[in-house]
Amino acid sequence: MAKTPASDPPARDKLPRHVAIIMDGNGRWAQARGLPRVKGHEEGARSVREITEECAALGIGRLTLFAFSSENWKRPKAEIDFLMKLLRRYMVNERPTILANNIRFTAIGRLEALGEAVLAELAKTKELSRRNTGTVLCLALNYGGRQEIVDAARRLAREAAAGTRAWDAVDEAALDAAMYDPEAPAPDLLIRTGGDHRISNFLLWHIAYAELWLPEIAWPDFKRAQLHEALRAFAARERRFGGL
Ligand code: FPP
Repeated sequence: MAKTPASDPPARDKLPRHVAIIMDGNGRWAQARGLPRVKGHEEGARSVREITEECAALGIGRLTLFAFSSENWKRPKAEIDFLMKLLRRYMVNERPTILANNIRFTAIGRLEALGEAVLAELAKTKELSRRNTGTVLCLALNYGGRQEIVDAARRLAREAAAGTRAWDAVDEAALDAAMYDPEAPAPDLLIRTGGDHRISNFLLWHIAYAELWLPEIAWPDFKRAQLHEALRAFAARERRFGGL
């Protein structure tokens, strides 16, 4: 019999400050039900809503969701078009909920490639939520971890070439400050649904000491109770950051 997920979250002081999620398994979830893959993305968007609202209710500082990777452009055009339409629809439909829950919205990635229509909706949500003080919801879109490191290195290289940065002022702190969102704390907990045990180019720089949670279930089945289970597992971990 399947294990019943813990239904309660851990105590507030045991919660991660930043949760990052690789939302995998949408296609397989749909195929297992004899549905087209895009139905999995639709149900996945419902998980996005529930997990975001729950993180806001729990007071988790930041939630970063891998919504479209720089490698996802390799998918069939029809699926890419559907995902972009879903993203736009999500931005429009979820805006009132984002604002009502005091969520501040942001996005990371090489966003320019997303197209005017998506960019306009992202910008609107970002602007309207910019004074909110609750959970930061960050969507990683056209995002790649290696690309982020390259973009940061290029910024520093430009400064060095212009003579405004000494070569030995290129250190961890400088690279950290040159990342897409330098204010974001590193993720404490990285969740990947779908049963695969890999990072897939997500937040490579930032996850150096993240705790990993890799449930077998697909993203559309990851809802409030499954989040609580992950948070309880995180709360029980001992983090040593290389020390004893
Ligand atoms: C991975 O599942 C998921 C994606 C590539 C896209 C993530 C998108 C969503 C969760 C829905 C919409 C999101 C927002 C923010 C509205 P997969 O297709 O790789 O699944 P598979 O591994 O089973 O094929």
